[in-house]
Amino acid sequence: MLAYLNGQFLPRSAATISVEDRGFIFGDGVYEVWRVVNGQLFETERHLDRLKFGLAELRITAPDITRTDFLRQIAERLLTESDLLEGEATLYVEVTRGGAPRTHNFPPPGTPPTVYVTVNRFKPPEELRARGAAAITIPDIRWLRCDIKTLQLLPNVLAKQAAMEVGATEAWMIRDGVVTEGSHASVIGVIDGVIRTHPTNNLILPGITRSVVLDIARRAGIPVREDAFTEQDIPRLEEAFLAGTTTDVMPIVRVNEQVIGNGTPGPITTRLHTAFRAHLDASCAAGHAQPTTA
Ligand SMILES: Cc1ncc(COP(=O)(O)O)c(C=O)c1O
Repeated sequence: MLAYLNGQFLPRSAATISVEDRGFIFGDGVYEVWRVVNGQLFETERHLDRLKFGLAELRITAPDITRTDFLRQIAERLLTESDLLEGEATLYVEVTRGGAPRTHNFPPPGTPPTVYVTVNRFKPPEELRARGAAAITIPDIRWLRCDIKTLQLLPNVLAKQAAMEVGATEAWMIRDGVVTEGSHASVIGVIDGVIRTHPTNNLILPGITRSVVLDIARRAGIPVREDAFTEQDIPRLEEAFLAGTTTDVMPIVRVNEQVIGNGTPGPITTRLHTAFRAHLDASCAAGHAQPTTA
């Protein structure tokens, strides 16, 4: 597999960074992940906007990688040379504040950022989607800027590991009794026929899949309230699902010991997944399709 690192294309195994890189030392950087279908990036601009936002918040200057034409050129070469122009893939971009002797304060002006891009083949988890996945709940121990997609993912790593160790797929994080999001996906529920999810603020990552799915739901006339549900509401959930770049819409049929609905993927979830998948395929085929209705 080929990688792009600081202006060079090289085999991933040959891509190396300094041990003084601030990504390695401090987790001082951001990342972004795109879904790719038949060589086309899904929601190129929304992901780029989130990357630009994160870089600006952390005051990291990396102008080239946030340009659409620059990113597309790198993506095309990586996908072509990695034989990923057909089928599904993901594109990963990471930007750190660069390599410099370790000090907490920023390195001297002019220190170049580290920019790393790579692609991977991707297989959507269709078997799991058909039967529905399980989740656990776990305290949300993260900082107060979860809206920045930083490399500092330890709470997310520990949460996902805790889920895996009990045979679950995702961990729903709970802050002050409220369900915020999963370790790498947005959490969406249905209560009294209304779609409920945490509002976008500093406590969650503004998920791009979340936003696309909520648009699809609204167009289909399904009521949506961006108002979080609580841990106590979990027994009242008629349906629940995850939304994320590598998750699409993933039904959740059990949370801890609580069965959700009748324990199989619910009708709103299934409808939204079908419409989301159609939109993903259409927009990657056409470039800029509008969401279809569910
Ligand atoms: C914490 C968190 N929430 C939500 C998401 C879903 O975001 P998106 O739909 O943009 O992939 C992710 C994706 O990695 C995530 O890490």
